[in-house]
This record gives sequence, structure tokens and C-alpha cells, in this order.
Amino acid sequence: MRKKIVAGNWKMNLDYGQAKNLLQDLIQNKDKFNKDTEVIICPSAPYLGVFAELTADHDWLKLGAQNSYFIDSGAFTGEISPTQLKSLQINYCLVGHSERRDVFDENYDLLSKKVKALINHDITPIFCCGEQLQVRNSNVYREFVMKQIEDSLFSLSATEIEKVVIAYEPIWAIGTGKTATAEQAQEIHGIIRARLIANYGEKIGNNVSILYGGSCKPDNAKELFAQADIDGGLIGGASLNAEDFCAISNSF
Ligand code: 13P
Repeated sequence: MRKKIVAGNWKMNLDYGQAKNLLQDLIQNKDKFNKDTEVIICPSAPYLGVFAELTADHDWLKLGAQNSYFIDSGAFTGEISPTQLKSLQINYCLVGHSERRDVFDENYDLLSKKVKALINHDITPIFCCGEQLQVRNSNVYREFVMKQIEDSLFSLSATEIEKVVIAYEPIWAIGTGKTATAEQAQEIHGIIRARLIANYGEKIGNNVSILYGGSCKPDNAKELFAQADIDGGLIGGASLNAEDFCAISNSF
């Protein structure tokens, strides 16, 4: 059975004090979070060590990193390795967020190495995909998203792909307040699921959680999460508010 997941991508927001306050806010409200949902937060990298200590007794709240390199150690100034993340008990890591693809030129090949390295270290990659507005309008958006997935993920074995979470994040919906409609999101999620099943078989394809991201808020999460192939959300702005994030976790 695939997991229902609500993951907060805090991006490069909040100074250390603000981030700790938000974590305390989440912990104080732990009883209000949906017990049947995997709740994940991805704060900025410098906070992960202390956050790992502060959440050690809170199994309901998982930590994710926003990025990692694919090599274990060495002369790669500024990078973080999967081994280092593992040593902090980090369970998840974002890969291929559109902001990393666009601003830092991360390409299919690099992303596929990152995914593989994370799986090898038993960290679940949350692999992001999604199209720009002009691609959406050009009507080849289905093929565009599928190519992102096929190029970076389809060299994985069946046991490996089962360890991946996919997040569909149409770029035109990120931070714009203009969310995809439930039908638009389900169309892509359904295609992704169908391709996973075609490639890896029914059982494995149905085990992969596929999240939606892009202006997902308490007032639209219910409709999105009610779709057959939407298993939760990757939340940006609304994850910076404990009450909103909690409400989204209760939107299934
Ligand atoms: P917003 O929820 O702020 O649109 O961001 C989505 C996102 O990029 C999550 O990774």
C-alpha cells in the first residue's frame, strides 16, 4: 500500500530562530496532525543537525533535506553527501526541484545519479518533475513530464523505483497562487501511474506515492487529495505556517 504523504519544502526561508519556532509550533500541535499521513519537513541544510536531535523522540515527524550530491565524500566544496545525511538519520531528500533544475542547471543525468546514491543510502528521494507555462500551453506537457521521469528514473530496478516518491509540480503553479485544478493534476498523475505500471507492473506501480505541489493550500488540498492518483502534497509557502500545514495533513 502506498503512503499518504504531506511534505513541507521550506526552501531558503526562515532564519535559525524562526525555523526553530516553527518546529516547536509543529511539535506542540502534534496531536492535531493526521496519524495516517507521513509528515515530512525539509528545512535548510544548516538546521538539519539540531532538528534531528529535536525530533529524535517524534517519530511522526520525518526530516528531509532539500538537496544532496551523489558522491560519499571528498573535495566538493559546498555540497552535502548522502552519507552525511544518513549520519543525521535523515529519511528523505528532494531531487530535481524545478528551482534546482532552472537556477542551478541540474540535468537528467545528474538527477539520476543523485536518486541512485540516495537509494543506496536508504534515503527516500522525492523526485520532482513538472512543466513550464509555455510547455503547458504548447500541448506537449504530458510527453515533457514523462520524459523527465523516464530519463532520470527508468534505469532503476523494480525494487529501487518502489523506494522513490514522485512529486508533480507544474512550474506555473509554484508560488503563484495559481494551483492546477484537481483534473489537471490527476491527468498527469494518472499518466505517471500508468507508465510506472507499464514499465514495472501493477503491484510496483501502485506502490509509488505521487505527490502534487504548486500553491497547494488548506482550501484546495481536499479536492486535490481526493483524486485517485494523488497521494499527498509537496507544500512550499503553506508549510511555513503550522496551522495551514496541519490542516493540509488532514485533507485526505
Ligand atoms: P508553493 O506551495 O509555495 O507553490 O511551492 C511549491 C513547491 O515548490 C514545493 O516544492
